[in-house]
Amino acid sequence: MAGRIRRDDIDTLRERASIVEVVGDHTSLKRAGPRMKGLCPFHSERTPSFTVDPSSNLYYCFGCGAGGDIFRFLMEIEGLEFTEAVEQLARRTGYELKYEEMSAGEKAALGQRTKLVAVTTAALAFFRDRLYREEGAVARDYLKSRGFTKEDAEHFQVGYAPNEWEALSRHLVEERRFPRREVIEAGLAVDNEKGGLRDRFRGRLIFPVLDLSGDVIGFGGRVLPGLDYGDFDPPKYYNSPETPLYKKTRVLYGIHEARPDIVRAEAVLICEGYTDVMALHQGGFGNAVATCGTAVGPDHLRIVGRYARDVVLAFDADEAGMKAATRAWEAAREVEAETTADTGARFDLKVLVLPSGTDPADFVRTEGIEALRAAVDGATPVVPFLLRRLVVDADLGSEEGRTAALRDALELLRQERDQELRRQYVRSEIADRIGLSVEFVEKTAARMGVQLDTHAGADLGSFRPRRVGSRGTIANTTPQRAAWERTVLRLALQEPDLLPDEWFELTEDDFTHPTARAVYRALVAAGGAGVDVRAVLDAAADDDVRAVVLAVSMEEGPEGDARRTARDLVRRLVAERLEAERSALEVRLQTLHHEIDREEWLALNGELVEVLRRHRELTAFDD
Ligand code: UTP
Ligand code: MN
Repeated sequence: MAGRIRRDDIDTLRERASIVEVVGDHTSLKRAGPRMKGLCPFHSERTPSFTVDPSSNLYYCFGCGAGGDIFRFLMEIEGLEFTEAVEQLARRTGYELKYEEMSAGEKAALGQRTKLVAVTTAALAFFRDRLYREEGAVARDYLKSRGFTKEDAEHFQVGYAPNEWEALSRHLVEERRFPRREVIEAGLAVDNEKGGLRDRFRGRLIFPVLDLSGDVIGFGGRVLPGLDYGDFDPPKYYNSPETPLYKKTRVLYGIHEARPDIVRAEAVLICEGYTDVMALHQGGFGNAVATCGTAVGPDHLRIVGRYARDVVLAFDADEAGMKAATRAWEAAREVEAETTADTGARFDLKVLVLPSGTDPADFVRTEGIEALRAAVDGATPVVPFLLRRLVVDADLGSEEGRTAALRDALELLRQERDQELRRQYVRSEIADRIGLSVEFVEKTAARMGVQLDTHAGADLGSFRPRRVGSRGTIANTTPQRAAWERTVLRLALQEPDLLPDEWFELTEDDFTHPTARAVYRALVAAGGAGVDVRAVLDAAADDDVRAVVLAVSMEEGPEGDARRTARDLVRRLVAERLEAERSALEVRLQTLHHEIDREEWLALNGELVEVLRRHRELTAFDD
């Protein structure tokens, strides 16, 4: 597949596109010396170990070992094929790819995602065009009645789907020449069983759903008052069906527009509807997104969790709140559990319940954005929220009712990882509210095995020693010599000018750790110290070696005189080899007789003298 796009184009794109910018879509990067650092988008962590090197356009995570170039990043983060990653980057940077001798067959085999995005993008252009034609008046009027201006509509690229059976399909197939199959695959139409197509969205206000990179992955369509939908009562919203682009468990409406604000605020507000997001953004609440007709699940949290751990869930209606909050909390724990032992980023999940029958959009309209801001600030942490709901629903008038409520509350509390909070909630949310003494609640908890004692078995989380790197680190797994070798390789990759002349005396054998040796071998094969890191990556034997090359090329050395470190360590490597040679020579000499084996004895002695001289020379410099 990769062969079809010209090699030149791939290389040009790789050089021109900024990896900092692309990675910046997925995690916020801060400058750290010559490189940029941020929280790894591939695993959960609290301290940044994800490193991007703008000079080589490569990235590497010291926590999980993910690393590579801009294409690898896109492939891994968005689940793309190589070709698709190249194509997405080209789209994004406005670069026109040239395909080598592309036949009709090859054209058809273009990355599926790219093909489908082309269809959805064309569909969006169609919907937007229709909004501003005469027939779109019904949709424009509706927007106005909801308090949305033309700018709001344009910001979210709102459109209008004509109230006809195949307006869009005809346009896409007949005018834009998209294959029927692709229009169906993109979720825009179904086969009408008469050889034609039937549009999915008819007579609807259209909200395009964009993914993080801004690609159109699907649509939501709202019914419009006053339109005739025939003799059936249509659902208020239609969303795109599951397609290769649109996976509803991962869809967060507004994420493309909201991402910078989420990063800035380090918080996200997840609501339920398209209009909520629009109204909130309009009111200056740019970090709002919405799930589209699904509960907040682990995939949603994995996505927003890359940018913020403070999550506020805004629910429309009261009754749904309990269930939705429970599921979201479960999802949060599931995602937290994927966290590596040394990190352990927790979600700070809160619940905002608006007056029954009101959603955030209504609330902003009637109460104003400041009132909403205050409500968000005062949102209830999820566990107290659930505990309170549980108590409210319980029958506290009877002994059995209270016992049952207590049992449920403690079962819930069991899931709270923070023991301090558990203790606190017993007092603030359980005992008084149910009408029991703290002692009784504590005794019951003990009987149920729900730990409340902060002293016994305190949470070890924060005391666990940091696990340094996993795959891809030499220093972690080997003795001092390997550490020296690694340092020397780091300097050779990062600051070749600092290497002493003795660097050229080194051979493969001077790298005793097998991985260090493999890296050295790749470095030499690529042309030696000072070559481009990418050349070394290309010369590396396998992915494990590549991971180490990336790590070593990006890791920071300790403070201090790097030139002196380079000199001392390279000399030390050479000196240690000389010492080994000396011992070997001495052993051999002991087996010889200085008269019987005269010639050999003299030769070896000459060698020994030379080794000793070199050794002295090297170590004499050690000041
Ligand atoms: P709501 O009914 O709260 O709609 O559904 P809304 O977003 O507030 O819309 P307005 O303000 O009445 O115009 C919330 C979300 O649930 C999904 C949609 O994603 C909607 O935005 N939904 C709702 C559906 O998927 N299908 C439906 O029939 C209704
Ligand atoms: Mn709503």
